[in-house]
Amino acid sequence: MPDGAEPVLDVKGLKTVFRTRGGEVHAVNSVSFDLRPGELLGVVGESGSGKSVTMMSLIGLLPSPPADVRGGTVMFDGTDLLHCSEEHLRSVRGARIGFIFQDPMTSLNPVFTIGFQLMEPLRKHMGLDKRAARARAAELLDLVGIPDPARRLDDYPHQFSGGMRQRVMIAIALACDPKVLIADEPTTALDVTIQAQILELVRELRQKLGMAIVWITHDLGVIAGIADRVMVMYGGQVVEQAPVGELFANPRHPYTRALLKTVPSVRGERTAKLNVIEGQPPILKAEPSACAFRGRCLHAMARCDRENPLRRMVGPGHDIACFWDPGQEEWQDA
Ligand SMILES: Nc1ncnc2c1ncn2[C@@H]1O[C@H](COP(=O)(O)OP(=O)(O)O)[C@@H](O)[C@H]1O
Ligand SMILES: [Mg+2]
Repeated sequence: MPDGAEPVLDVKGLKTVFRTRGGEVHAVNSVSFDLRPGELLGVVGESGSGKSVTMMSLIGLLPSPPADVRGGTVMFDGTDLLHCSEEHLRSVRGARIGFIFQDPMTSLNPVFTIGFQLMEPLRKHMGLDKRAARARAAELLDLVGIPDPARRLDDYPHQFSGGMRQRVMIAIALACDPKVLIADEPTTALDVTIQAQILELVRELRQKLGMAIVWITHDLGVIAGIADRVMVMYGGQVVEQAPVGELFANPRHPYTRALLKTVPSVRGERTAKLNVIEGQPPILKAEPSACAFRGRCLHAMARCDRENPLRRMVGPGHDIACFWDPGQEEWQDA
């Protein structure tokens, strides 16, 4: 990936609020990131940190109300997806930006055959007729490693195993040859062996097709294995971002450090648990006016109560949103 390459996706200052009976929930607070051609950006953070809402916001997948995407820009292919027509957004979503989300709204529909669900985007976005769409659908199943693809087109989702269903989801996301693929915890429900197979498939497909990928996971082992760059989220904000090697070798945000300490062995088989950091996740009732992590932070200072730290560069391609500076200290001892 050439470093100076123009990003395929450029998100700036994204803000999403939910209006609920109990008041507003500030789920995403000024999130900025970009995605360069062909790169795989890993997104990590404990449950509720705003990973899914961020990605759903940028392709207009959240129902409004209750969601209100209140600010920011999302540049893709020369257009701001937050300020374009619904028609344009529809032509991008599921076509030039493919996605796999875990919620039932965007998963396989149990009442339609796999073939139908694969052919739908091909007919809608690529203008293929029924026959051409069916041929392409079989090709796609083959691409994701489903045996006997032409015959399997007429099967229903329940006739596939969990791992095979996930492959079908990937095939649908790739149907229209997307420039960007967003995958939200696509392997979480799968057992370790199947998970490894899916990751291998994604690695292969990336080589073959060259799309850029956003891969959301709470598993740092997965991130270590497939990401080029990592973005760590906490309390609806990006708290650290770095190339993958740098993040694991030299994590700078106290939250990232805590996360890494919860991983038995970064490259090992065991799943990292992100929920073992002491203390509670922040309550997102207002725009942050202090550091969201301060209540759980080993290094909190008076300033962290008064001010929400802005992201600052601490190395090449490496930034953190934190006032604390570890200086010469070895991070393992921090
Ligand atoms: N429909 C909703 N109504 C109110 N709050 C929501 C809704 N959906 C998500 N949230 C809140 O937004 C925050 C971020 O959620 P989410 O992006 O799903 O987290 P993650 O994907 O990192 O686990 C959470 O605090 C969650 O409770
Ligand atoms: Mg999520």
